[in-house]
Amino acid sequence: MNPIHLRAGGTSVVVAVDGGRLPRVLHWGPDLGDLGPGALADLQRAALPAVGDSAVTYPQPVPVLPQLHEGWLGRPGIVGDSDGRRWAPYFREAGHTVDGSVLRSAARDPEFGLAIEVEIEVLPGSGLVRQRARVVNEAAEPYRIGSLELALPVPPEATEILDLTGRWALERVPQRRPFQAGEWVRASRGGKPGLEHTLLLAAGERGFGFRRGLVWATHLAWSGNQVLAAELTPAGTRHLAAGEALLPGEVVLGPGESFQSRWQYGSWGDGLDEMAGRFHRHLRSRPRPPRPVVLNTWEAVYFRHDLDTLVALAERGAELGAERFVLDDGWFLGRRDDTTSLGDWTVDPDVWPDGLGPLAARVRELGMDFGLWFEPEMVNLDSDLARRHPDWVFEAGHGPGLPSRHQHVLDLGHPEAYAYVFERISGLVAALEIAYIKWDHNRYLLDAGRRPGVRRQVEQVYRLMAGLKAAHPGLEIESCASGGGRVDLGVLEFADRIWPSDCNDPHERLEIQRWTGLLVPPEMQGTHIGAAESHTTHRVHPLDYRAEKALWGHLGVEVNLLTADAETLSALARWVAFHKEHRELLHSGDVVHADLPDPAFRLEGVVAADRSEALYAFSVVERPAVWPPGRIAFPGLDDDRTYRVEAVYPGSVPGGVLPPWQHTGVTLPGRALRVEAPSLDVDRSVLFRVVAV
Ligand code: DGJ
Repeated sequence: MNPIHLRAGGTSVVVAVDGGRLPRVLHWGPDLGDLGPGALADLQRAALPAVGDSAVTYPQPVPVLPQLHEGWLGRPGIVGDSDGRRWAPYFREAGHTVDGSVLRSAARDPEFGLAIEVEIEVLPGSGLVRQRARVVNEAAEPYRIGSLELALPVPPEATEILDLTGRWALERVPQRRPFQAGEWVRASRGGKPGLEHTLLLAAGERGFGFRRGLVWATHLAWSGNQVLAAELTPAGTRHLAAGEALLPGEVVLGPGESFQSRWQYGSWGDGLDEMAGRFHRHLRSRPRPPRPVVLNTWEAVYFRHDLDTLVALAERGAELGAERFVLDDGWFLGRRDDTTSLGDWTVDPDVWPDGLGPLAARVRELGMDFGLWFEPEMVNLDSDLARRHPDWVFEAGHGPGLPSRHQHVLDLGHPEAYAYVFERISGLVAALEIAYIKWDHNRYLLDAGRRPGVRRQVEQVYRLMAGLKAAHPGLEIESCASGGGRVDLGVLEFADRIWPSDCNDPHERLEIQRWTGLLVPPEMQGTHIGAAESHTTHRVHPLDYRAEKALWGHLGVEVNLLTADAETLSALARWVAFHKEHRELLHSGDVVHADLPDPAFRLEGVVAADRSEALYAFSVVERPAVWPPGRIAFPGLDDDRTYRVEAVYPGSVPGGVLPPWQHTGVTLPGRALRVEAPSLDVDRSVLFRVVAV
């Protein structure tokens, strides 16, 4: 049987389906064009390695579900058993159907009474590949799933691995290593992907950058425990695997029951920009109303709530162009700091004697919509909720366990707990006409139930988000988890944006947003202008640099506008106006990053899909050894068009030495467009506007 060729969005996936075996991917990457039956047959023949007498280490194309029985000694596709029996399934006699760019395969293990369905899909538009599998227990005895991991192969030239790590207020720090024999595994075990989560695991040609070098990456669309692995087996096969990390006994299939894996996504590109662009296109294929400029109260007032102050803040925000007012933590029963009250989702009458209605009404009168902070999955032991329902607090058998930020986790698998949270939030959304929920999550799930309940909890969260959105059409949700602790395509099925980090320091934000951007497009990343002195790093930055770094995403303001001077307010208003003027380009164009040789500089921007216009920022992030910086070329433009380039200063002209051309602008053909970069101090930037003439 000839291989199947799935083609869409500039991607080809060629899959071997012969011999009754489950699919094995022969090619995943650039579009191979129209391949006739002869070429496909030869492509498969050409991909088969020589097998020696004693080779049980699988010198063959990587199957999407690697099986021990077929000689695979790498990471197993499926681990499962029935009390120690039925432990090494052998799925075979597979049948395959193709529907457009989707391949569906079904196979059985008749001795074990197990069936499996595998789906591989190349998405039109984005060219992403995604795959998942469903295992069915056809026998009478229960079948316990330990893991179900699918794999996508990468070619031998993928010799370097890139993934991300990080911590609170410093999410998404890149790390690179050679792709050597063995396994490089990144796991999340805290009931959410986590602040240190890698978002994706990439392997590419040596030295691959943003603009050049083939690179392949995988991501699991899931907000719970998970594993991403890159493996080079002794037989020389390289692949990227992904699956849920299941807790003991978390999935036990009764007769006729099935278990479906989460979608494993794969993206590739010549450079990270193209690879990331596929995820961006995918996320942009949903309806996308314009992103309103946000005023968030957190850094301005923290827990100090009162009507007069917050109305005054809203009025200042409206004056400078904010379109959405978000009241952060501190509004509910007794919540004066972070030690109490999570779970008591009732407006605190001591602080808000007339409720939140008057504030929400004033916000709307000012032309903004109203957003409110919740942390629906959490509970403080010092709360009415925990006192009334101690059994709703997660525990594994040793009491509620270690507090984190003084809080514990509410078991949303408990039907009454779920109903309570839904009813409280839904009631407030209706009463206050809430347009937006900032949905926080600040504790890992260390002790998720007497029987493991992590995946049920995550599914309940999805259900809660979907239920609230269905009950309140138009409601938007932000996924925040101490910053960027829950960023994945699973939650982004329901959430409209993510909060990349609690760190608003522009020096750090530049990097956090750049690397979060491997998965998430600008308009789905909340980017706020914080206080002059960052509340997380205590570095001090001028407004222009803070604003420029916030310009690129879903813009917000967290500066305390009530203590800001007139000059700051007027500069803020200019930045907000500039963002609105360019919002359409910023939120629809291709994100590009130059691969500059000197790590002291960054040049990145957004280019319109038709290459007719672009906006770039050149930044200095550390003191360079060589000065001045030299000439830079703007990535992503069309060589054959002529462009006008001008420096633009929504705030003020930065100090430093500006090259002569910057005073007049230049007009040059794309292929000749290289300009001398400005000599700026550290943590300063200049914006360049580029328009085709
Ligand atoms: C953690 C979030 O990341 C912050 O933005 C803020 O909402 C606080 N929680 C509020 O407690």
